[in-house]
Amino acid sequence: MQNIAFPGACRSLETDTGMKKFYITTAIDYANGKPHLGHAYEKVLTDVIARSRRMLGHEVHFLTGLDEHGQKVQQTARKRGIEPIELCDEAARDFQGLCRDLEISNDDFIRTTEDRHKAVVRGILQKLHDEGQIYKAEYTGYYSERIEQFLRERDQVDGAWPAEYGEVVEITESNYFFRLGQYQDWLVRYLEENPDFIFPRFRQKQVLEFLKEPLNDLCISRPAERLSWGIPLPFDENYVTYVWFDALVNYISAVGYGEERFADYWPADFHVIGKDILVPPHSVYWPIMLKAAGVPLPKSLLVHGWWLKSGQKMAKSTGNVVDPLDLIGQFGPDAFRYFVTREMNVGQDSDFSLELFLSRYNSDLANDLGNLVSRVLNMIGRYCEGIVPPAGAVADEPERDLRALWEETRERSAELYAEMQFHVALDKTFAFIRSINRYAEIRAPWKLAKSDDPDDRARLRSTLAHMAEAVRLSVALLKPVMPGTAGRVYRLLGLTEVSEWETDLAWSSRLDGVRASAPEILFPRPKTETGEK
Ligand code: MSP
Repeated sequence: MQNIAFPGACRSLETDTGMKKFYITTAIDYANGKPHLGHAYEKVLTDVIARSRRMLGHEVHFLTGLDEHGQKVQQTARKRGIEPIELCDEAARDFQGLCRDLEISNDDFIRTTEDRHKAVVRGILQKLHDEGQIYKAEYTGYYSERIEQFLRERDQVDGAWPAEYGEVVEITESNYFFRLGQYQDWLVRYLEENPDFIFPRFRQKQVLEFLKEPLNDLCISRPAERLSWGIPLPFDENYVTYVWFDALVNYISAVGYGEERFADYWPADFHVIGKDILVPPHSVYWPIMLKAAGVPLPKSLLVHGWWLKSGQKMAKSTGNVVDPLDLIGQFGPDAFRYFVTREMNVGQDSDFSLELFLSRYNSDLANDLGNLVSRVLNMIGRYCEGIVPPAGAVADEPERDLRALWEETRERSAELYAEMQFHVALDKTFAFIRSINRYAEIRAPWKLAKSDDPDDRARLRSTLAHMAEAVRLSVALLKPVMPGTAGRVYRLLGLTEVSEWETDLAWSSRLDGVRASAPEILFPRPKTETGEK
């Protein structure tokens, strides 16, 4: 893992030198379905990292996109009586709409049906074929249409194919194979020598476990008569490219593989993916494809867990999906972004429930943060004619405690961000937010406002200045997760946003004399317990 640092800590940024951008990707989603909570989560997680890196001064390139080829797209399009590309165009609108609605800051959106992608896939296939790393052979095996893969006999359970494979048929056909197996020892060595290649580390062990079995060569073609919706092999147009060989290449085709600019992006810093697509696609096929093509490996794979619903993976096939757009429509993008980041320990699974969502929304967002912001703005309006007063000389124990807690929160958050412990970082930030509320209780500015004593007036001004600055700092720290809310609070406080954390997270007197606005309700209460307004 690379180090990141906030002000005050040692700044060590591997990617800070030269032209190399911090390049981060999500998986590209299947065009065959609607976006669900799992897709939305992955984009938010990646966006939180991308935004935090930008705020640390990195030049970030954030890629997401759509995986458009394959059997399922072809079948669904056929059933609906439309062309596969029409189905993909619809999906592209849905998934791009999801990115927009969630305020995802991706710099690019790749579709695997684009020429820029197809040309790179064909170029790599041709190169590997010319070098003898791809060969043709006859193969008989059990094929699952649902997962578009040949199965091994040992995938059977008690002599039968598990239901997840759908219909399994025995077929014999000629196909093209990529010499995956010859790289097995190299890959094992690579993983052993690079224990941080996969985060969290326990996932790397799963890959090594998988690699204890002999690795077969990979069938990278499908006969065009069975599957026409794919990229034709450049050396034999009777076949199209196997979807994974096609899809994985998006990570390099999108950033100009083969062009000079490629070096500004590659190697990617993180591929963010779910645990279901680690073994074998991202941890075995992809590293070996790159090695064979003479391209360096990505720096790391960040593997998140699943969102479950009542203990089951949320998936189109089980029909238990949560439509993120419903939640975003009702509660706004930041509430959604906050919830998924707060509830998911990256790497583990997490169960979704509306009750939990509402409880986080009401207690953390509406109560702790929303009420605090209104309270501060109200008091600045009522007692200081809307102008944030300077803190002055008052700095007794409550002020010192508040500032000390801020320093601790900021430093700890830097470590937690570097460790991908975003849920704990949010927990700490909200602990700080609650401590601002406690500070207000101790100082009781509403009582100080009733006094004519000049010391009380000075204390009142200092209290409001401390509260306002502490609120500003909290939302600055929340910015990667809740960019809209941070921007809104900054505007209410009469400030323009600062793009770098280096300056933004330092306790300052930037608010002195600034005209603040009247409060607005940041997180309106849902009308009923089910969340309906
Ligand atoms: N198209 C492939 C990925 C190709 S990447 C070169 C694919 N698509 S997917 O639509 O099924 O999944 C896209 C991403 O969403 C994957 O990283 C997957 O793990 C993630 N999720 C899908 N369902 C999920 C949950 N229920 N929970 C969290 N994320 C999961 O796989």
